[in-house]
Amino acid sequence: MYELKPLPFDKELDGISTKTNEIHHGKLYKGYVDKANEIGDELGKLRNEIIAGTAPGGNTTYSKLRALKLGETFAVNGVYLHEWFFGALGGDGDYKKAPELAAAISEKWGSAENFQKYFGECAMAARGWTVLAWDLHEKRLKQYNGDTHDHAVWGCIPIIALDVYEHAYFIDHGSDRKAYIAVFWKNLNWEVLEEYYKKAKVIDF
Ligand SMILES: [Fe+2]
Repeated sequence: MYELKPLPFDKELDGISTKTNEIHHGKLYKGYVDKANEIGDELGKLRNEIIAGTAPGGNTTYSKLRALKLGETFAVNGVYLHEWFFGALGGDGDYKKAPELAAAISEKWGSAENFQKYFGECAMAARGWTVLAWDLHEKRLKQYNGDTHDHAVWGCIPIIALDVYEHAYFIDHGSDRKAYIAVFWKNLNWEVLEEYYKKAKVIDF
């Protein structure tokens, strides 16, 4: 079962309103949790029927199995990405609170400011998500974009996940995504990001 994780903050964020958070977390993220569970239940039933030979199997044009499998990756990634996103909000934006991560970022991009500039432009180029990830294959930080929840590179652990779907900012900033990206940096909790980074980089793959 996928469970709804509460927001890690209870205050109005600077530039991200309570209304946005209530809708984004309480309705949209919750919707992915509920659908992930519903799809899991349906797949469980269908799996048993397929094994028993009482239901048709897969078909690439249409089959119930295909429809559920497409929905599964969309919903489950929707759950996980939102948990990375919300889980790192509620901070003060001070990257010095993540010394190891900031050092790794500076090593790759020259400085934290350079990284934020580049990441922000990647966020302008994405239709869904922009992610700083630890690549388990390469053992280094990589930046990836995804137009939907299920555009992802396998074997990568998100560190910073920025939701750039319009629902994340339209109430507060209209179509001004750059303004939303600016407030995202202000509200990032770099202590949490440092933990994500430390946990990811010791994985021996
Ligand atoms: Fe979202």
